[in-house]
Parts: sequence; structure tokens; C-alpha cells
Amino acid sequence: MEVSVLIPAAGRGERLGLGPKAFLKVGGKTLLEWALGAFAQAAEVLVALPPGVEAPKGLRATFLPGGETRQASVARLLEAANLPLVLVHDVARPFVSQDLLERVLKATQATGAAVPVLPVPDTLVRPEGEGYGEVVSREALRLVQTPQGFFTALLREAHAYARKRGLLATDDAQLVRALGYPVALVPGERTAFKVTYPEDLALAEALARVWNG
Ligand code: CTP
Ligand code: MG
Repeated sequence: MEVSVLIPAAGRGERLGLGPKAFLKVGGKTLLEWALGAFAQAAEVLVALPPGVEAPKGLRATFLPGGETRQASVARLLEAANLPLVLVHDVARPFVSQDLLERVLKATQATGAAVPVLPVPDTLVRPEGEGYGEVVSREALRLVQTPQGFFTALLREAHAYARKRGLLATDDAQLVRALGYPVALVPGERTAFKVTYPEDLALAEALARVWNG
């Protein structure tokens, strides 16, 4: 796969409260090892770790110090990428199927920017103070996942634009869209959920037992 995989893994894992998620074990493997396993066919893998954290030995990846925010971590990885296509993937999402990867890659090659999304299963509401407020149509909304794919030059331009304008985003597609470039949507997968809260770990452990990508 002629693609640079960028893995921002420099977060502190504060909501989980168990240290940086890259080194958290699920099913006997760290989340970083899960992510690297999913991208084993990639020509290049770059990983951002919390500054000062020693890179693990024996893994097929290049390690760089991340930044203060996810966006800053991705920007650093992006500077080091050597191929014309990048896939940006959160280390906190251990279960990436090869089908999902292929879908994102194919749409990226065709359009320049593509991300996986899911429908929203629950009712959504904008609270009014402490009370129930206006319901927001869930049909109109999607949950956004990673891996997100981009032409490397486009994502670099988007990050430079964001820096200039002081934009801070929780994913990369937002920055590409802010630049005025369309981002294609492909179907995501519920198994590609992000390990964020302690309850997510139980789900990840259960899935690890049956996962075969
Ligand atoms: N991330 C990063 N650099 C940062 C902050 C986040 O590379 N300065 C990465 C995380 O490692 C993770 C992804 O961005 O892979 C999504 O972030 P999130 O789920 O919020 O992870 P954390 O920031 O580690 O968790 P928390 O917000 O609970 O501290
Ligand atoms: Mg975070």
C-alpha cells in the first residue's frame, strides 16, 4: 500500500485515567500494536508519542514527539510523511477492518479526501439549561471515525491554513473542509469505535477475543 499512515498517539488518555492509550493493553496487545497490525501493508507508518516518552522497541514504525493537541501531533507527522497519500488514524481505535481501510483508500484515491461515518443511533437533544430542549434531527447527522484519507499535499495545505487562521479541530477532515475542499463520506464500522471511557475497555476486551480484521 503506497501510503503514509500517520498515527497520533500523543494524547494523555485523561478520560480513561490509565495513562497514554498507546500503551494500554487489550487482549494482550497494546493499542499501538493493534493499530500497527491493521496497517501492516502500508509502505510507511509514522507515530506521534507524548514528548519524553521512550519509543517502544521492535515495532515497524517511525516515532516522533507529538504536540499539545491532536492537531499539532498530526501536523508534526505530516511534515515527516514521504508519500503522496496519507491515512490519519487515532491510536485509540484498535479495530480497523481491511474492508474499512480499502473503502477509505479507494475513495481517497478518487477524490483526495475521504472519511468513514456512521448514522447516529440515539435521539439527540440541545439541552435548555438543565432541561430537555430542542431535538436535533439525527437523520441529518453522522458520527465521524478514522482512518481518514487525504492527498498529502492537500492535508498539508489545510493544516497550514488552520495555523494561519488559528483554527483548532478534533479531526483532519474539518480542516480540509475549512479550506473549501470537499470531503467524501464512506460507510464506517461500529467496531472502529474510539476507546475513550473506562466502559469502552470492556467492549474492546470482548471484541479482541473474536476479532480477525
Ligand atoms: N492525540 C495526540 N496528541 C495530543 C492529543 C491527542 O496525538 N496532544 C491523539 C490521541 O493519542 C488519540 C487521538 O488523538 O489517538 C484522539 O484523541 P483522544 O481520544 O481524545 O485521546 P486522548 O487525548 O489521549 O484522551 P483524553 O482526551 O481523554 O485525554
Ligand atoms: Mg483528547
